[in-house]
Amino acid sequence: MKTKMINLLKKKNKSKIICLTAYSKNIAEEVDKIADITLVGDSLGSVLYNYSSTREVTLSDMIKHARSVRQGIKKSLMVVDMPYNTYSNYKSALKNAKKILKETKCDAVKLEGGKKVIKQIKYLIKNNVPVMGHLGVLPQSTKGKFRSLGKNDREKNQLLNDAVLLDQNGVFAIVLECIKTPIAKIITNKISIPTIGIGSSVYCDGQVLVSDDLLGLNQTNIKFVKKFVNLKKEIYKGIKKFKNEVKSKKYPSKKYSY
Ligand code: KIV
Repeated sequence: MKTKMINLLKKKNKSKIICLTAYSKNIAEEVDKIADITLVGDSLGSVLYNYSSTREVTLSDMIKHARSVRQGIKKSLMVVDMPYNTYSNYKSALKNAKKILKETKCDAVKLEGGKKVIKQIKYLIKNNVPVMGHLGVLPQSTKGKFRSLGKNDREKNQLLNDAVLLDQNGVFAIVLECIKTPIAKIITNKISIPTIGIGSSVYCDGQVLVSDDLLGLNQTNIKFVKKFVNLKKEIYKGIKKFKNEVKSKKYPSKKYSY
């Protein structure tokens, strides 16, 4: 596990880091072939369960999906999001992070926030729990529509200070979500650990997307999402063929019968 993090660090300023979400074994198997980091994100709340926000995601939701994802992973670093309300103080953070690590065999956890959660982050790292940070738009604490951050000096300073703080306290990488290009570039140049952007420009050390979004399985019109393939269409074609062959009695032929 340590080796995977060192390899990630070595990629900074050299080659782009690939991070993708997975919520189950079958997608994880494919993600693992490509990605440096497989993230079991709490975005599964809206993508799979239609929750109105990630705040509804529970520890048991995360553990259940992460256990499935673990079955599909051979080489990438596996990170699991700590859901809302599971790290409100440093003692609960450690108890819940240890539970996630033990029950899912993941490599690290991800927490949203900077200075506000630094006590928790320090305590986790002191107790050998590897931590990935998450700054910018924080879905667990954002009500309503997301807007990009880093427009004014106050936001820029806060983002930069938080990123430096996380770096200085041993976080191994930071997700930057919906941060304006100039400040994403400044942060990436300033800190020693990799930045993984989502809607935060090409200047980040790596990029992350929700796999269901890029595969066209999840309908979304978020600006930063590019649909790289339309799997929904392919799934429809496949099940329609099945229906037609059942109706016409072409399937199951002798080959598929006992
Ligand atoms: O929950 C998630 O999937 C995430 C990524 C979008 C970064 O945090």
